[in-house]
Amino acid sequence: MSYDLVIYNGRIVTASDILPSSIYIGINNGIIETLTTSKLSGKREIDAEGGYIMPGGVDSHVHIDQDNAPAGDNFESGSRSAVAGGTTTIIPFAIQPKKEYDLLKVVEEYHQRANKHGGSYCDYGFHLIISEPTPEMLEKTFPAVCNKEAITSVKVYTTYPRYKLSDEQLLQIFLTNRKNNVTTMVHAENSDIIDFINNKLMSKKMTDPFFHTVSRPQLAEDEASYRAISLAKVIDVPMLIVHMSCESALDHVKKAQTDLLPIFAETCPQYLFLTGDYLKHDCCHHSSQGDEFQGAKYICSPPLRATQQDLEAVWKNLINGTVTVFSSDHAPSNYDHPLGKKKGLVNGIPHFKDVPNGLPGIETRLPLLFCYGVEKGRITPQKFVELTATNPAKLYGLSETKGTIGVGLDADFTIWYPEGKMERFSLTNDMLHHSIDYTPYEGMEFTNWPRYTILRGNVCFDRDNGGVVGDKVGNYLRRKGSVLAGSRAKLNPIFQ
Ligand code: URP
Ligand code: ZN
Ligand code: ZN
Ligand code: ZN
Repeated sequence: MSYDLVIYNGRIVTASDILPSSIYIGINNGIIETLTTSKLSGKREIDAEGGYIMPGGVDSHVHIDQDNAPAGDNFESGSRSAVAGGTTTIIPFAIQPKKEYDLLKVVEEYHQRANKHGGSYCDYGFHLIISEPTPEMLEKTFPAVCNKEAITSVKVYTTYPRYKLSDEQLLQIFLTNRKNNVTTMVHAENSDIIDFINNKLMSKKMTDPFFHTVSRPQLAEDEASYRAISLAKVIDVPMLIVHMSCESALDHVKKAQTDLLPIFAETCPQYLFLTGDYLKHDCCHHSSQGDEFQGAKYICSPPLRATQQDLEAVWKNLINGTVTVFSSDHAPSNYDHPLGKKKGLVNGIPHFKDVPNGLPGIETRLPLLFCYGVEKGRITPQKFVELTATNPAKLYGLSETKGTIGVGLDADFTIWYPEGKMERFSLTNDMLHHSIDYTPYEGMEFTNWPRYTILRGNVCFDRDNGGVVGDKVGNYLRRKGSVLAGSRAKLNPIFQ
């Protein structure tokens, strides 16, 4: 029999194993139908030439076509950039706008955005962001939308004036999520510490981009992380703290995990590779010297931390198992755009507070961790797969179709070059497929890159023959509950 696609002569990597290169993968109708040592033939055959064959990347934290980043990526450019970096599944956010309590309408709006330019190059789901919970909404449209759209995760904030929730509101959401089998993602930074420092900085006219890092100290993340864990513990509910950057905050997660609590951590490339120096206007890494504002390109929250030791601490927690998922937090804004990063430069005066937060990184997430983690020997290929595909698929209810390589699962793959086959290069922004005018990783050296990205049996990125060659065939993903957390003890009767 002939398959739609056969992939062979590569080393299949899962979160637990590396299989020998004698295995053939037979794919029909977008599904992995056979894994065998017998030779297979297909309408198309890909010789992986000894390179790693990994499950397609699952990027479970990306911001696409959100109102708060009007100079960012839309679904076309964001998903194009995803597949060009080896990612086949993304989970962007559908944000509840102010005074909108019909969450069905909120998600409908994001479906329209996803379809606006002919759809998405990769598969996608939505997390909900709840910014204004009301009891009626949590009773009615919240379960309705989770049910109708098969959404099983919600992000909430402890900071940003527009989004932050009180501890009581957080508890209410944890309880609602527990009742609806929904996983909570928390952005944990203490907003009063930040506001207090901000006001001092403003009164002293310390408004350069660099002061963004001063305004959001590690203690703000430490305190809010500990508090979020405490609140989650009251309800005994699974929770992931997103974009963690701080060793003492990660220590709280580690302690909670040691106590067998269902507490998870996410980190992102920027907290492994970039220090706060990048926000200084005279940082040696900047492309155009003389532009005093370009530190704004590196404004994200939590901010880039001060020292190389801070980065090392995050690496350590990535390796020792505290960190559960490695996502991009792709939250791009063009630099040279009045609604982008330059929004924070009015009449030549910088105001870091007015700069849209976030960095682009959907396309560089996997190559960065592969080149500097796997190829440098800091993490195993299996650990790479666990952090970038398997765990996010398990945590967000996609593991029946995504996140690993096995018979019956979606035929989503990232195939890497065999060692030494790809000519190493220094990254420039024009190599990337987002619609953003810079990359924070300009000039970094790459020794490997996804050679092929395959979504449900379709080659959507072929680096040596046409680049992004796929169509916008991405599907909306209906998700199940998390399988990482295990089962919960009975809900305390006073919370029933
Ligand atoms: O700086 C960031 N990460 N901005 C995006 C919004 C968020 O907090 O996730
Ligand atoms: Zn956040
Ligand atoms: Zn520098
Ligand atoms: Zn984010």
